[in-house]
Amino acid sequence: MKYPYFEKIDCNEWMRKQKPKSIDCVITSPPYNLDIKYSRYKDNMSRKDYLDWFNQVTKEIKRVLKDDGHFFLNVGSINSDPYVAMDVCNEVRKEFVLQNNFTWVKHIAVHDKGYGQYKPITSKRYTSNTTESIFHFTKDGNVEVNRLAIGQRNKTHEKYPELYSENRHRAVARRKVSKKLGFSNYKSFLESSSEKEKKEFEVILKQVMKDDPYDPNKPKCIGNAWFIPYIPTSKLSKNIGAKSDHNFREISRGNHPATFPLQLPIQCIKFSGIKKGSIVYDPFVGTGTTVLAAKILGMKGVGNDIDGDYLNFAKKRIIAETKEIQQELNLI
Ligand SMILES: C[S@@+](CC[C@H](N)C(=O)[O-])C[C@H]1O[C@@H](n2cnc3c(N)ncnc32)[C@H](O)[C@@H]1O
Repeated sequence: MKYPYFEKIDCNEWMRKQKPKSIDCVITSPPYNLDIKYSRYKDNMSRKDYLDWFNQVTKEIKRVLKDDGHFFLNVGSINSDPYVAMDVCNEVRKEFVLQNNFTWVKHIAVHDKGYGQYKPITSKRYTSNTTESIFHFTKDGNVEVNRLAIGQRNKTHEKYPELYSENRHRAVARRKVSKKLGFSNYKSFLESSSEKEKKEFEVILKQVMKDDPYDPNKPKCIGNAWFIPYIPTSKLSKNIGAKSDHNFREISRGNHPATFPLQLPIQCIKFSGIKKGSIVYDPFVGTGTTVLAAKILGMKGVGNDIDGDYLNFAKKRIIAETKEIQQELNLI
């Protein structure tokens, strides 16, 4: 197989032809069954048929995924049908363990500032829907990840001091050394250590601080709320020369009605900690966003869709965007 690889086929059919345990990471966003207007796919099964179908998809994913593989599943809901994501999650739960549960935040208000994009609604009952779920499933709930690969050194709230200070780093090291010498903590070390132990303590502490020095820029885990704003299709299109009388969605998204932003699969791949050259598969690849992310990060991307027009767009997009994005957005 030559990568990136796209095939126009029903994803279950494709997976059935693959060897078991051959894929490192699945990242996908399936149709949500919310009657979205795709060019070919009809997004309007009964809820029961939809969940039964998704159960089959899940079983196939489980078969082709390696035992230490990752399955990132992005699903959203709408106000009038708020259970879609939860129902899908419960279906997958029959086969996988939910190891991490992320919320994709598309828009957020902090004090008097708003960040991101969302579709505003007019309603007397609902709020605008600004989040979706990204479920991180694994086979046994015990797969190592690299959360610091997407970590950052953010400032904490002005009112509260930064927890990771030099003093705190030193205190953690002192506790570690105390435990190493058989004390329950540093306080008990101070109270009951001998002169010989005190000398030994200083030698070990010096080494520990040398091996792991205080680094004010050390990244920390960003938690499970991922702020990933959309880039509006108008902006994407204008970047590639479109004028205001053009159909921006057609130009920048091949008329696909439901794509996720590139940053989403990039974040999943980095978080998973999979090695370069790993196979990343999207059974519902649409415009190829997952495969583009895989290529940018040095992975082997594979995607299926039943709609050949979306796949044709995806192939052109990969060629056009790979170099440009790496350089301009500095995503790596
Ligand atoms: C939510 S979209 C995915 C969009 C994609 N994440 C992107 O960024 O472009 C779901 C896609 O699944 C495709 N699809 C629906 N049923 C399928 C099936 N059985 N096998 C493969 N693809 C399917 C649809 O054509 C649609 O493009």
